[in-house]
Amino acid sequence: MKILGIESSCDETAAAVVEDGRTVLSNVIASSLEEHKLYGGVVPEIASRRHAEAISFVVKKALEDAHCTLDDIEAVAVTYAPGLIGALLVGVNFAKGLALASGKPLVPVHHIRGHIASNYITGDAKPPFLCLVVSGGHSHIVAVNSYTDFEIIGRTRDDAAGEALDKAGRSMGLEYPGGVSIDRISPQGDDAAFTFPKPKVAGAPYDFSFSGLKTSVINILHNAQQKGEDICIPDLAASFQKSVVDCLIEKLEAVALERGYRKIVLAGGVSANSKLRAEALEMCKKHGFELYLPELKYCGDNGAMIASQGYYEYLAGRRADSSLNAYATMPIDKLI
Ligand code: KG4
Ligand code: ZN
Repeated sequence: MKILGIESSCDETAAAVVEDGRTVLSNVIASSLEEHKLYGGVVPEIASRRHAEAISFVVKKALEDAHCTLDDIEAVAVTYAPGLIGALLVGVNFAKGLALASGKPLVPVHHIRGHIASNYITGDAKPPFLCLVVSGGHSHIVAVNSYTDFEIIGRTRDDAAGEALDKAGRSMGLEYPGGVSIDRISPQGDDAAFTFPKPKVAGAPYDFSFSGLKTSVINILHNAQQKGEDICIPDLAASFQKSVVDCLIEKLEAVALERGYRKIVLAGGVSANSKLRAEALEMCKKHGFELYLPELKYCGDNGAMIASQGYYEYLAGRRADSSLNAYATMPIDKLI
């Protein structure tokens, strides 16, 4: 069964055809990232305009690359939440038009559920498992009970891990996205050069908080500037990255041990981080846990993960009609 997946929640216009939720037949991505770099972050209106320009071509190419037409597609899956509203609306409206014109069912997909599904197209991960989802907008520890049943066990109280890395990278004068830049330069630095306080969330042992760490970086930079001292940016980047990764892995490990999970999955843009991948591997080795990591090309936003999750949502009977709307926020476990 072939599903066409469409994704436009941030700065990637993406479409893909995936067979039976696992086999990627095509995966096309047009990104407006280079343009956003000029502004140090994603500019929503630019993202929306680039989606509007690219979406027809991207979807057409995804069908061509998969050597199929709309006739061969079982259903059209589209990201409808969460994300930038103007960006999401482009994909949602395009998918609605396509579904209406072709008479194919329309399947709404939650973006973060899609990130988790990147592990179905990369490896043979099968629920139930425990998943750490870390992206630009989300940091969750999620119990994935089945393909369509999720329970949030831990969440960030403020910045998402990717957001904190991006903001810290920006204050260090690194190119956007800071998460990628920090990962790139950290091997040149000493990760013990700076120490950061371990953030604790009172009464919620599995929740994260990253804004204090991010503020510490800004304070270190300001203090050095005031004293006219030079800061070794690779040292600061490596130390900050280590503290973020330590927080993520320590909580993931605690939940896995306490709740008896032996299958661990990583997902989201930050799961491309080399330090996070290495630390997750080490932690899982120590306890004999199975670890699933998405292939690097499926860590960031893509259409294949939406088609994959769309397949499982479709099997579970999820459908939308032409009144489908886009939503900037939506919890992974309680869908509209
Ligand atoms: O999942 P994603 O592509 O978009 C959202 O759904 O948010 O995640 C984007 C985030 C950005 O914050 C970016 O800095 C981060 O993923 N990211 C990384 C790496 N690659 C992307 N963070 C750390 N290390 C990386 N290698
Ligand atoms: Zn994403």
